[in-house]
Amino acid sequence: MAKKKYEAPFIERRIAGLGGKFTASVPRYQDNIDGIPVKELIKEYGSPLFVFSEHQIRTKFREAVRIFSLHYPKVTFAWSYKTNYLLAICAIFHSEGAWAEVVSGMEYERARSLGVPGKRIIFNGPAKSKSELTIAVREDATINIDNTDELFLLEEIATEIKTKPKVGIRINMDSGIYPPWLRFGFNYENGEAYRTIQRIATTKKLQLIGLHTHIGTFVLEPRAYYQAASKLLRLAETIEEELGVKVSFIDLGGGFASSNTLYEEYLPGNISSPDISQYAKAISEAFNESRFVFKNQPNLILETGRALIDEAGYLITSVQANKVLPDGTRALIVDAGVNLLYTANWYKHNFIPAQPFFGALENTVIYGPLCMNIDILRPFIRFPNLNRGDMIIINPVGAYNVTQWMQFITYRPNVVLITSDKKVVLIRKKEDFEYLVAPEILPRHLRLEKKS
Ligand SMILES: Cc1ncc(COP(=O)(O)O)c(C=O)c1O
Repeated sequence: MAKKKYEAPFIERRIAGLGGKFTASVPRYQDNIDGIPVKELIKEYGSPLFVFSEHQIRTKFREAVRIFSLHYPKVTFAWSYKTNYLLAICAIFHSEGAWAEVVSGMEYERARSLGVPGKRIIFNGPAKSKSELTIAVREDATINIDNTDELFLLEEIATEIKTKPKVGIRINMDSGIYPPWLRFGFNYENGEAYRTIQRIATTKKLQLIGLHTHIGTFVLEPRAYYQAASKLLRLAETIEEELGVKVSFIDLGGGFASSNTLYEEYLPGNISSPDISQYAKAISEAFNESRFVFKNQPNLILETGRALIDEAGYLITSVQANKVLPDGTRALIVDAGVNLLYTANWYKHNFIPAQPFFGALENTVIYGPLCMNIDILRPFIRFPNLNRGDMIIINPVGAYNVTQWMQFITYRPNVVLITSDKKVVLIRKKEDFEYLVAPEILPRHLRLEKKS
């Protein structure tokens, strides 16, 4: 008979009033992802480990396309590279028909390296260089102009290479979301956007084919998209009537919420975040009311990022130590820090034990391995008392972590994909010492003499 596991005794203060319909959350354990045992994943690829599910990505994407197409027939999704630009992840979206939405020369290069043609790339961003713009123009990409300096630069390029660049303009506005994002693009309410279009119509150096906005991120109010779409469509109608400029796309950017839970939210995100059909309904209402749409049927472009990838990403981490803080709070130290899980700053992610556990839940703080006081993945969670070597699955982590992660103190870990046919493939290698020091140069006079 196997030796029984020792369970340390503890005294726990019961807090009256806790628990209820949504808060009595006894965490279950989950020992596999898409049917692949967590133990096997860690044995093969080490801990910590990012895991993506191809099946979940494809299912979510197809569902989003299906829902939007039911409401409006001409819909294009452009994959927001900054949300997750691992080549394998982008390739999955492109194989489903997504265009690329990029915000830098580096992201543009990634899209081109995957074989995405320029005409299926939307180039956003507030600081595009002349050389980046020139390549994009030559390759027939659509450039959403952010500011007047960029507009002048594009006119210059148009003259130099004798082409009429395909452009949209980014528009900022009051859509009811506060504070509004006013730093990107040209303002709608004060007429700046209209005047910019007037200039483009007058100089005739650029071909204005679309209007773009991105009102914010993790937008919990679908009506904001109704406002944004209505404003862009009204502008499209006005510029057609007054300036003879007819745009062929309306690009509403990204911003739909995933099922993550923000720190300031009471209910869990899987209850409080709108689902994609609520955003689709709000946008299609504006489209159905628009005379411009009735006449011209513009392409609706969406640059949805986090809502399409967040849930399909998991981070497996292992407990390194279990201690009790001076105030009696239980603390777990795990091997993944905030440098890997950037979104821990905003979200109460789900922390799910990856093996059966014993004993009652305790108030717990979960620390990362960095020797920094700020390295806290979760300042408060009711959690079982795990031991060194136990594993935890953190989810949803698919959006913005493997792009905004930072190499700091430790090596960034392996990233694997569980394919649709349940195979595990490595899609980004763990860093090692050679990789890390490769770009560094140690000046000759600082080299320690090698003594034999
Ligand atoms: C221009 C643009 N489009 C799309 C996105 C994707 O946004 P989200 O991940 O919130 O859907 C972003 C993110 O900030 C963005 O700046």
